[in-house]
Amino acid sequence: MGTLWSQERPPEEEQPTERSRWWAPARRLLTAVLLLGSLLVSFVVLFYIFRSCGPRPCEMPACRDLLEYYRASGNTSAPPCTNFFSFACAEAEGANTSFQALAEENKRRLQRILEAPQSWPPGSGEEKAFQFYHSCLDTDAIDAAGASPLRQVIEELGGWPVSSNWTSLDFNRTLRLLMSQYDHFPFFRAYLGPHPIPPHMPIIQIDQPEFDVPLKQKQEQKIYAQIVRTYLTYLNQLGTLLGGDPGQVQQHASLSISITSRLFQFLRPLEQQQAQEKLFQIVTIDQLQEMAPAIDWLSCLQATFTQMSLSPSKTIVVHDLDYLKNMSQLVEEQLSSHSDFLQSHMIFGLVGTLSPALNSPFREARKLLNQKLQELMGRPPVPAYTREMKCVEETGAFFEPTLAALFVREAFSPSTQSAAMDLFTAIKDALVTRLRRLPWMDEETQKKAQDRVTQLQVEMGAPGWAMTPVLTSQKHSEVHLGPNFLQSFLSGVRSRQARIIQSFLEPFTHHRWQVSPWGVKAYYSVSDHVVVFPAGLLQPPFFHPAYPRAVNFGAAGSIMARELLHVFDQLCIQQAAIMAPWGDHPAQPGPHPPATLLPELCPGDV
Ligand SMILES: *[C@@H]1O[C@H](CO)[C@@H](O)[C@H](O)[C@H]1NC(C)=O
Ligand SMILES: *[C@@H]1O[C@H](CO)[C@@H](O)[C@H](O)[C@H]1NC(C)=O
Ligand SMILES: *[C@@H]1O[C@H](CO)[C@@H](O)[C@H](O)[C@H]1NC(C)=O
Ligand SMILES: *[C@@H]1O[C@H](CO)[C@@H](O)[C@H](O)[C@H]1NC(C)=O
Ligand SMILES: *[C@@H]1O[C@H](CO)[C@@H](O)[C@H](O)[C@H]1NC(C)=O
Repeated sequence: MGTLWSQERPPEEEQPTERSRWWAPARRLLTAVLLLGSLLVSFVVLFYIFRSCGPRPCEMPACRDLLEYYRASGNTSAPPCTNFFSFACAEAEGANTSFQALAEENKRRLQRILEAPQSWPPGSGEEKAFQFYHSCLDTDAIDAAGASPLRQVIEELGGWPVSSNWTSLDFNRTLRLLMSQYDHFPFFRAYLGPHPIPPHMPIIQIDQPEFDVPLKQKQEQKIYAQIVRTYLTYLNQLGTLLGGDPGQVQQHASLSISITSRLFQFLRPLEQQQAQEKLFQIVTIDQLQEMAPAIDWLSCLQATFTQMSLSPSKTIVVHDLDYLKNMSQLVEEQLSSHSDFLQSHMIFGLVGTLSPALNSPFREARKLLNQKLQELMGRPPVPAYTREMKCVEETGAFFEPTLAALFVREAFSPSTQSAAMDLFTAIKDALVTRLRRLPWMDEETQKKAQDRVTQLQVEMGAPGWAMTPVLTSQKHSEVHLGPNFLQSFLSGVRSRQARIIQSFLEPFTHHRWQVSPWGVKAYYSVSDHVVVFPAGLLQPPFFHPAYPRAVNFGAAGSIMARELLHVFDQLCIQQAAIMAPWGDHPAQPGPHPPATLLPELCPGDV
């Protein structure tokens, strides 16, 4: 060993003394020990540093629930090496995604709120909401009343040739009542919305109606025939339940279907409207009256929008003028040949929308229709909702302001809100910093982009007024309960319609929310330049103040980032934005512009 080492020694050590012979290995040993020692110390120090700085396991119940959720959402029988996504997340079964599961959980939460024994001040919104919910659940009382509440409604509308006293039709009166008292629009839809052109003042808009049944002729002939048969069966059931003569009912039902089918033929697809650059037209009520004379536009609109004072020279937005012209022609044709069928058509449509408030034979018939249509359209079956869930939905629709406050109190504490706001601010700041560093963007564009982000408003949880008890209770003063559930339901319908119109007419102090606070859909409104994250979305498994930051950034954070990027849609498509009011267009399922309208400049998801 000595010789081995000696070869490496420097020349001056060629003559080692007795002392240096043992000192050298000892020194090496000492060095090694020192080295090892310092390594050990650094490991210990590093370990402590990392332990106190790095993420620690989260032991909060929220985190344990999340872990359970993650574990349960994977599919352990999927092969991780070939399909890791399926292994980790499983394929969404049918249409049940995490968002839908959360939406259902939020409704169950509302249900728990509505079922908790509480006492509220008499006449308050809360008390009415609770009473409404419980009378909705009381199907025995609804069934005991039978069809007579519905018959009464039909009498008020001028009767129905198949089942009641019927003299002659006052078409304009029936239509006016349907629009103003029942929120039902059989031939076209009228609503208040922001003007397509800035400054987006509220303006009445006329659009295609929402049909009870999809009768597009483009469908496969066989499917089309099946849909017609299914719907005919349903209408026959309705007529018979109302005491009509089966032969006569069959005739009226067939004609109603043919009216719907013809109206469908008049619809122009959005792409075609866009190609013809006719996404909307601005006309006066007088001009519309000339072009579509079958309808008494002024009186129908005035009855519906009572809060506004209308005149023949008032301008309105028309979304598909050709449809309205053809529709008017059809109505005139029908009025001259068989006006009683037109009345039937309107009544059939109304009865369909009132189903949830009717006795069980009507509800069963409607449920069967929905199931069969779903099947025929090749869609996944609608979940079999319990009566409780249905009633939660109806109560939520009519008493939204009250339930919003209750939901937020229960599910979105101020500390949750401030944590969510911090998350959003962090993402927004990161975006602004990034924007500053983009080398390919010229200065002017960069400034514009930054301004858009910094000027953006954000609303979280619920609309501001929902948290002000006085304002909330004012919003329900109109709902009257009784004497039967159908009448309570109709009162709710009217109150909701008035509330929505009113919300547009109030002097602009806040953004008008397009989703329920317990909903799970975030959105960006072009006209108000505001992003909205409802309380229903900022819930586990997407968000919780106790989650590790990475989880919140990855889940709720990515949703926030996505909405944040929508503020740039407008920068690229200012031209198109002037043409389409998609920011607040209720006809579209989402608040974003339809993808087909976006020019090449703005690729990516919309
Ligand atoms: C789980 O994975 C297996 C194998 O790929 C598959 O057959 C099964 O349908 C999957 N189950 C779910 C719920 O995704
Ligand atoms: C969707 O999934 C959730 C849990 O994963 C479950 O609770 C809920 O009942 C499901 N909903 C439907 C309609 O299948
Ligand atoms: C028809 O009118 C008469 C008298 O107005 C009334 O007694 C009767 O109940 C009505 N019939 C129906 C089915 O409404
Ligand atoms: C409805 O009112 C319009 C406008 O006043 C009128 O032209 C039309 O003839 C009326 N329809 C019926 C059936 O009375
Ligand atoms: C709509 O009306 C126009 C003009 O009257 C007519 O040319 C067109 O064929 C009609 N459309 C349908 C689908 O009937």
